[in-house]
Amino acid sequence: MRVLVTGGAGFIGSHVAEYYARRDNEVVIYDNLSRARLLNCDDRNARHNWDYLGNFKNIRRVCEDVCNLAALEPHCRHADVIFHIAGQTAVTTSVQEPRPDFETNAMGTFNLLEAIRRSGERKTVVYCSTNKVYGDNVNDVELIEDAKRYTLTGQYKQGIPETFSVDHCKHTPYGCSKLTADLYMQEWARLYGHRIGVFRMSCIYGTRQFGFEDQGWVAWFVIAALKGRPITIYGDGKQVRDVLEVSDLVAAYDRFVMSDSPHGVFNTGGGVDNTLSLLELISMIEQKIGKPIPLKFMDWRPSDQKAYVSDIRKATTVLGWKPGVSPAAGVAKLFDWVKQNQALW
Ligand SMILES: NC(=O)c1ccc[n+]([C@@H]2O[C@H](COP(=O)([O-])OP(=O)(O)OC[C@H]3O[C@@H](n4cnc5c(N)ncnc54)[C@H](O)[C@@H]3O)[C@@H](O)[C@H]2O)c1
Repeated sequence: MRVLVTGGAGFIGSHVAEYYARRDNEVVIYDNLSRARLLNCDDRNARHNWDYLGNFKNIRRVCEDVCNLAALEPHCRHADVIFHIAGQTAVTTSVQEPRPDFETNAMGTFNLLEAIRRSGERKTVVYCSTNKVYGDNVNDVELIEDAKRYTLTGQYKQGIPETFSVDHCKHTPYGCSKLTADLYMQEWARLYGHRIGVFRMSCIYGTRQFGFEDQGWVAWFVIAALKGRPITIYGDGKQVRDVLEVSDLVAAYDRFVMSDSPHGVFNTGGGVDNTLSLLELISMIEQKIGKPIPLKFMDWRPSDQKAYVSDIRKATTVLGWKPGVSPAAGVAKLFDWVKQNQALW
């Protein structure tokens, strides 16, 4: 297969690119290496995954922007399967600077869709959407509050399904730009017959994730704890997410690519069996490092969801997929990777 991975130098994109390269496919990664700049962070690791993928002979690296249609178009035309992963990823940054968020997430996606429409061929596309499309409607769901976590209960005990309302709520600019792209993806599948999997992902974590305070909390907590950096919790720390180790995510994508499923929206995460609260993750890391982690608490962030758990029953039924890596095993793997690569930070 000829595989195009936008955002291929990022965390998820680099794992997707490696997976298909190891299976002897021809892979192009298309990334403008803007993660650090977009997120206004001093991240000297922006090139780490890019350099790592340079070791694969069947991966071609293109340093370009998804906003540049002329540059993107030939790569879309050439590909059989496209993973559209490039994105501005931080909610906080989207609030401070909504325009670059819109340009990359909404316009960049529109460019990609126009490129495949104009190719005249039927393409298979995987799109990285997000649970943020449901905005803070999720906060109306009945919750149980315990000492260290919130738990969804009542009608949504099994998690949030794909049919959950996206209307009449706060989204943040990030939620809006990703929802725009999510809807355009669905429309291009219906109107022009492309085979598109829209994966509304909860919290993905794993190796090669350069998390920091505003994005990638699982990796950030591990990195901060190992490097002795201060950790601030926004809210009460009982926020819960279903967490999914990146290899399980790539397996879900591959199930879609290899299936004959025509089009689908899939809520994707660890599901009810793989959830973590911030405080639970802190306890897990404290056990590993053998000492307490000092925490500072601040106000809730805008539109933060107290508990979000994906109802993954559709993905399980349609794709025959389910998560295989427990939070304990996944966090241990991430912890070992950060420990072995401490010089990166
Ligand atoms: N990590 C998660 O938990 C999570 C959850 C839900 C959705 N997502 C979505 O998954 C995608 C990937 O997330 P990630 O965690 O791997 O983030 P990441 O920041 O590690 O990767 C994104 C990559 O896209 C590139 N990029 C950004 N703007 C670009 C542009 N205009 N042109 C070309 N490349 C550009 C960046 O340089 C970066 O390498 C994003 O679209 C994000 O919204 C991630």
